[in-house]
Amino acid sequence: MRSAGVLWPLVCLALARDVSIRSNSSEPTLDPRMLNETAQRDAAMQNVPLIRLTRYLLSHDRYDIRVRPIIDHTKPLKVHISISLYQIIEVDEPAQNIRLNVWMIQKWRDEYLDWDPREFGMINSTIIPFNHLWIPDTYLYNSVKMSRDETERYMNIQVSTNHWKGENGSDLSFLYPAIYTITCRLNIR
Ligand SMILES: *[C@@H]1O[C@H](CO)[C@@H](O)[C@H](O)[C@H]1NC(C)=O
Ligand SMILES: *[C@@H]1O[C@H](CO)[C@@H](O)[C@H](O)[C@H]1NC(C)=O
Ligand SMILES: *[C@@H]1O[C@H](CO)[C@@H](O)[C@H](O)[C@H]1NC(C)=O
Ligand SMILES: *[C@@H]1O[C@H](CO)[C@@H](O)[C@H](O)[C@H]1NC(C)=O
Repeated sequence: MRSAGVLWPLVCLALARDVSIRSNSSEPTLDPRMLNETAQRDAAMQNVPLIRLTRYLLSHDRYDIRVRPIIDHTKPLKVHISISLYQIIEVDEPAQNIRLNVWMIQKWRDEYLDWDPREFGMINSTIIPFNHLWIPDTYLYNSVKMSRDETERYMNIQVSTNHWKGENGSDLSFLYPAIYTITCRLNIR
């Protein structure tokens, strides 16, 4: 019990120092599972690099999901879109419809997501739920079904820092499966 009482302020100290100066990556991160007291585990958990990184990136002072993620607002944001065809489910000639199972791949740069991996346990890339980040409102305009819920199944976004390239921001990869029923003029002989 006595030793636990001594350990607790030590953990707090490490935590407080981390917030102000940020940890040196060559120091090993304390594994919270090694601690027996719940309070100690909770405190040490705050120091896990992945948790610190996610909270840092998404803190409300830094990131606003409603803002187009570009610092110079006069510049356009380029979204690279590619579609990988997985399966043609159905071709309906009388209705001039075709139903496709595809993987959508959207990539863009978010200038507000930025970190130095050396401050976060050398994490270069992380995964963040799509509903916590700005995402482009791209839409397949000749889709028969208008509702996104019926066609697209959004997934998490991979975020990779551009720190090592000496550039600002992060590159985002947004991949998700979709089943589109699209109209197109069919002329089958
Ligand atoms: C990190 O720690 C190592 C050894 O503890 C030291 O040599 C190095 O200079 C430190 N780096 C920074 C950026 O403080
Ligand atoms: C946690 O408990 C185990 C078993 O009771 C003990 O061996 C270990 O030293 C304890 N760890 C700490 C950090 O107190
Ligand atoms: C992150 O990238 C740097 C530079 O390319 C590399 O040295 C480091 O090992 C990478 N970190 C991880 C966890 O892969
Ligand atoms: C953006 O990148 C430039 C160099 O390309 C650097 O001088 C500047 O400090 C970076 N800005 C931020 C906010 O990281």
